[in-house]
Amino acid sequence: MRTTDTSKMTFSRVSPGEGLKKALKMTPEEIIDLITASGLKGRGGAGFPTDLKWKLAAAVKDDLKYVVCNADEGEPGTFKDRVILTDFADLMFDGMTIGARAIGACKGIIYLRGEYAYLRSFLKGKLAERRNDGLLGKNVLGIAGFDFDVEIRMGAGAYICGEETALIESLEGQRGEPRNRPPFPVNTGFMGHPTIVNNVETFTWVPCIVTKGAKWFFDIGTERSTGLKMFSVSGDCGKHGVFEFPMGITIQELLEKVDGTGAKAVQAGGASGRCIPACSFGRTIAFEDVPTGGSIIVIGPDRDMLKVAENFMEFFLDESCGQCTPCREGNAKLLEGIKLLQQGRCSMKYLRELCKLGETMQLASKCGLGQSSPNAFLSIVTKFKDEIMGRTETAL
Ligand SMILES: Cc1cc2nc3c(=O)[nH]c(=O)nc-3n(C[C@H](O)[C@H](O)[C@H](O)COP(=O)(O)O)c2cc1C
Ligand code: SF4
Repeated sequence: MRTTDTSKMTFSRVSPGEGLKKALKMTPEEIIDLITASGLKGRGGAGFPTDLKWKLAAAVKDDLKYVVCNADEGEPGTFKDRVILTDFADLMFDGMTIGARAIGACKGIIYLRGEYAYLRSFLKGKLAERRNDGLLGKNVLGIAGFDFDVEIRMGAGAYICGEETALIESLEGQRGEPRNRPPFPVNTGFMGHPTIVNNVETFTWVPCIVTKGAKWFFDIGTERSTGLKMFSVSGDCGKHGVFEFPMGITIQELLEKVDGTGAKAVQAGGASGRCIPACSFGRTIAFEDVPTGGSIIVIGPDRDMLKVAENFMEFFLDESCGQCTPCREGNAKLLEGIKLLQQGRCSMKYLRELCKLGETMQLASKCGLGQSSPNAFLSIVTKFKDEIMGRTETAL
């Protein structure tokens, strides 16, 4: 059953424009201080502190700075940004505009996932309305010297282009391949200028925080993972869809809310996340425990865990940009290992070698794709060893 009901979400109780008007009465430093007090961390997956990113970009002197909204949303099992852009686009644009004010940017870009092309004309219409209402363009809301406008650029369906430096390469018309870091986008981003790249949801929380206060957000969740979070829930549960829960919710509590309590595992964070077995459902969804950009895939008791791992590894093999060896070769080797396990032809010794390879990939890959692609493999083969090695013991 699809159960997304956005009318009950916090975003629907915050009036578009209210937070922006309030923020534009503040100095850029006051805006960033407010975000610091809220504890907001990026909702795109890595959980980087939003205030720190904005502070670093604000500190760089440059006449041209950029605010980029990462709407590439390619992580398997993630669809919350699509819902936010559909129902709360104005709040998201408010957040981008507040970000621009905070860092001193005059240009914004939404990098929209290629598969979301159907949203393009809707978002263009929203931008046109905002220009008419003085919320974009020259002297936004009458603030002399604050000029800001947003354009939409389309992705072309590559998962790697969600990685912020590959995204910037793609925006510049190059092949979407991650850059070496440093320099970081806050110093040298789009066209060499300071750029903040934030997730759709991150921007959307900003006007809510300005409207409702930093303390309101800070008091929800855990000390290190504050506030509310949007989750895309799919898989073997009664209720699929986008849900808003506080950070720090346990996996068990979450499963109760989505009718998924019979699950044998939960894949938190999409294909690049970790597979959490039922014995660990007391763990919390938080950056300090089980992090997720929002994808929760519920895995029912009848699922074959090797099939689950195979599915994820096939995805990474397809999506690796091939630039660095650990990821390009490693994903292929891990997938090959899964096939051997499926045939009962993988010894414990070889499995240990594959695990070491996975750990090397986590350390030596150039970007987050290769650093996280072994996560599901490693957690499945360690947490479901009995199910997996059962086949090998009988076959060897
Ligand atoms: C392979 C890969 C794909 C990614 N895809 C996305 C994405 O679709 N959306 C997103 O917001 N962040 C994605 N990220 C994370 C971005 O690189 C970046 O950390 C994020 O946009 C920063 O925004 P935030 O601080 O608001 O979370 C991806 C990272 C990697 C390594
Ligand atoms: S880790 Fe993978 S996706 Fe990232 S740069 Fe290396 S090959 Fe490309």
